[in-house]
Amino acid sequence: MKKLHIKTYGCQMNVYDSERMIDILRPLGYEVSDVADGADLVLLNTCHIREKAAEKVYSEIGRLKELRGEKEARGEGRMTIAVAGCVAQAEGIEIMHRAPAVDLVIGPQAYHQLPELIARTHRAKGERLAADFAPEAKFDALTSDRTVTGPTAFLTVQEGCDKFCTFCVVPYTRGAEWSRPVAAILDEAQALAAKGVRELTLLGQNVNAFNGVGSDGQPSTLAKLMYALADIPGIDRLRYTTSHPNDMGDDLIAAHRDLGAAMPYLHLPVQSGSDKILRAMNRKHGRQAYFDLVARIKAARPDLALSGDFIVGFPGETDKDFEDTLDLVRQVGYASAFTFKYSPRPGTPAASMPNQVPEAVMDERLQTLNALIIEQQQAFKATLVGKTLDILFEKPGRRDNQAIGRSPYLQSVYVEDARHLIGQIVPVRIVAVGNNSLQGALLETVSA
Ligand code: SAH
Ligand code: SF4
Ligand code: F3S
Repeated sequence: MKKLHIKTYGCQMNVYDSERMIDILRPLGYEVSDVADGADLVLLNTCHIREKAAEKVYSEIGRLKELRGEKEARGEGRMTIAVAGCVAQAEGIEIMHRAPAVDLVIGPQAYHQLPELIARTHRAKGERLAADFAPEAKFDALTSDRTVTGPTAFLTVQEGCDKFCTFCVVPYTRGAEWSRPVAAILDEAQALAAKGVRELTLLGQNVNAFNGVGSDGQPSTLAKLMYALADIPGIDRLRYTTSHPNDMGDDLIAAHRDLGAAMPYLHLPVQSGSDKILRAMNRKHGRQAYFDLVARIKAARPDLALSGDFIVGFPGETDKDFEDTLDLVRQVGYASAFTFKYSPRPGTPAASMPNQVPEAVMDERLQTLNALIIEQQQAFKATLVGKTLDILFEKPGRRDNQAIGRSPYLQSVYVEDARHLIGQIVPVRIVAVGNNSLQGALLETVSA
C-alpha cells in the first residue's frame, strides 16, 4: 500500500472534496495516513478566502520539503507533493514559481483527473491542471459509492457563485453557479443512507440558489430536493450551508415549518449591519430586508436558531457602521457566528477601495464583536437546559461508555452510558452547559 496524507483547509466543500479525492485514490493502492511523515503522496487541499489561509500553504510546503528529504535519505522513495483546492485555482502558475518543490497543482473542478496526473508526474514534474470550471465532468467521474465515517455526511449539491461580493474570491476560484442534477444527488444520498448515514449537510457556496434539473426535466429548488431526500429511508436530518439571504425562497422557508427533517438551525450570513457597507460589499440587500427575512423564517419555525458570518473592517467602515453591526447582532440574536477581519484579496474590487481600515481598529472591533457573540452563544445554550432535544449520537466520548452526539443546533452533547446508541437519534434531557458543549442525560424510558 502507498501512503496518502491529505491536509484540508477552508470550508466544508473542501472537506467533501478531500473525502472524494481519497475515494478516487484508494483504487490506486493509496491508504490514508494521519501524518505527512513518510507519506508517498501529500495533498494540500487549500483555501484562498483570506490572506492567512493562503499563506499557510507556503509554510506547509517548506515543512514538507524537509520531510521529503528525510524520506529519501531513508531510502523510502520520493514524496509527491500536490496542491489542490482554491489556492491551486487562483495561483496555479505562481505556486510553481514560488514553491518549486510542488509536483503538481490541481484546481477544484479537476481533481477527478488526479490518477492520470499522478501517473504523469512520475515522468515529468511540475504539471499544472487548473480547471476550466466544468464541475459536470468532475461529478460524472465520481461514483456514488463513498466511504462513510459515521452517521453524518456532507453532500455537495451546488458549486460556484455569481454574487461577486466585492471582498470575495470564491466566484474566481470556484467559477459560476452550477447545480448537480437531482437524480445524481439522490443516488449519492441513497448510497450513504444504506451505509448508516442519518444526517446530510447539503453543501454549496450558494446552496439555496440550487436549481438542479429534476426528474421532470425542469429546474428544481433546494426545498423540493430536501423533500425528496427526506423520503429516503434512514435520512432523518437535513441541513444546508451556506445560504445567501436573497435566495431564501418561500418554499424553503415553508419547508422549515412543514418538513420534520429540516433542522431548526440556519447559517444565514449578513456580513455587516450597516446599509452603507452592505452596499459597498455588493450584498444586494439592506439591513431591514435581513430583519424582515429573519422574522419570516422565525414565524415559520419559532424554535429556529441562526448562525452567521461577519466581516469587521471592510474598507470605509466607520465606528458608526460598526455600531450598526453590533446593533443588528443584538436585534437578531445568534446561537453562534463566525467573525473575520477584512482581508484584502488580489483581484477583488474591495482591495483597491479607499479608506482601508487600520489593523489595530480591526482588532478592537473584532474583540468587541466576539465578546457579544460569545455572550449570545452562552445565553442560547442556557435556554436549552432542562429541555429535551433529539440527539444524533456520532462517536464514543473519552469517558467510559460515554457517547458524543449533536443537538439539532449542532452543539456537541456528552451523555454517559450511551455508547450503544451511536448511529441513533434519541431524546436527551440537557442538564448542563459547557464552554463548547452541552451535557445531557438519557430519559428513563430510553436508558432502561
Ligand atoms: N458562500 C458563503 C461564503 C464563503 S466564504 C457566503 O456567501 O456566505 C465564508 C465567509 O468568509 C464569508 O461569509 C465571509 O464572512 C468571509 N470572507 C470572505 N471573504 C473575506 C475576506 N476577503 N476577508 C475576510 N473575510 C472574508
Ligand atoms: Fe463570496 Fe458573496 Fe459568493 Fe458568498 S455570496 S461566496 S461571500 S461572493
Ligand atoms: Fe476557501 Fe475555497 Fe472554501 S476559498 S472557503 S476553500 S470555496
